[in-house]
Amino acid sequence: MEELVQKEVQTIPKIVFENINKVFHTRKQTIVAVKDYDMQVDQGDFVSIIGPSGCGKSTLIRMLNGIIQPTSGRMLLDGIPLDTSKPYSQETLRKMGFIFQQPNMLPWYTIRQNITLPLKIFGLDTPEYQEYADELISVTGLQKFADSYPIEASGGALQRAGVVRAMVHKPEILLMDEPFGALDEMLREQLNMELLSIWKRLNITIIFITHNVEEAVLLSNSIYVMATEPGRLVEKVDIDLPRPRSLEMITQPRFVSYTQRLVDLIGSVELRQIK
Ligand SMILES: Nc1ncnc2c1ncn2[C@@H]1O[C@H](COP(=O)(O)OP(=O)(O)O)[C@@H](O)[C@H]1O
Ligand SMILES: [Mg+2]
Repeated sequence: MEELVQKEVQTIPKIVFENINKVFHTRKQTIVAVKDYDMQVDQGDFVSIIGPSGCGKSTLIRMLNGIIQPTSGRMLLDGIPLDTSKPYSQETLRKMGFIFQQPNMLPWYTIRQNITLPLKIFGLDTPEYQEYADELISVTGLQKFADSYPIEASGGALQRAGVVRAMVHKPEILLMDEPFGALDEMLREQLNMELLSIWKRLNITIIFITHNVEEAVLLSNSIYVMATEPGRLVEKVDIDLPRPRSLEMITQPRFVSYTQRLVDLIGSVELRQIK
């Protein structure tokens, strides 16, 4: 009986977007940032959202993390509707970690102090969590920067620190909004591979936003392709490539056919915008 119950629990999706709409009213115009968006992400999944600038990718993440409210529709976390009418509870917030394009480190704190800041915010500043922070610092090769200030660290080190800071409180889901978009290609590829190994190790659920087609294929189990005006889902593409993924796969025919399909879906006009 217990086994049965457990099985049932496991089939509840981690995150659900149900017919989500977001309309912004500015003085001059009404913008349908997201229209009728549906998405279902399982526990341990790696899902990307891709599409041209302005198609509502960041809006989706901001709604999920409670910064803005949907105009209509529901979002569920672990099968329970999120109450977006008031700030999320600490318990809900603790389940999430965020990584943005800019690492936004506080300049007057060392890298380690920046990384462990969420522990203070969540009241988790215990030796156990500090030890976990040290482990993450070492996994990402940040030891030599840990006691430096952000100004003394490289772009790659800062972005790694951003990843560690988002995970230090042991969130269950990571929301990544174009995290490596500002980095050069080689560094981005390196961080992508590091991210995959962390994801595998922690069995965490990831929603990853990008406008880079190859990056999305390399990382994801499935890709939600969006279009603009109104911001909407065009198609969900499942990426049936073996794991572990490697950079060598990028030139293989199956990989290339996925990227080509995505490029076709996004459309040549919109592609010009995202280059
Ligand atoms: N706070 C806001 N007020 C008005 N319009 C907004 C606001 N945030 C986003 N938008 C608009 O909503 C659309 C989607 O934006 P965004 O989610 O940032 O797109 P993306 O992340 O895909 O580039 C854009 O047209 C953008 O200008
Ligand atoms: Mg954005």
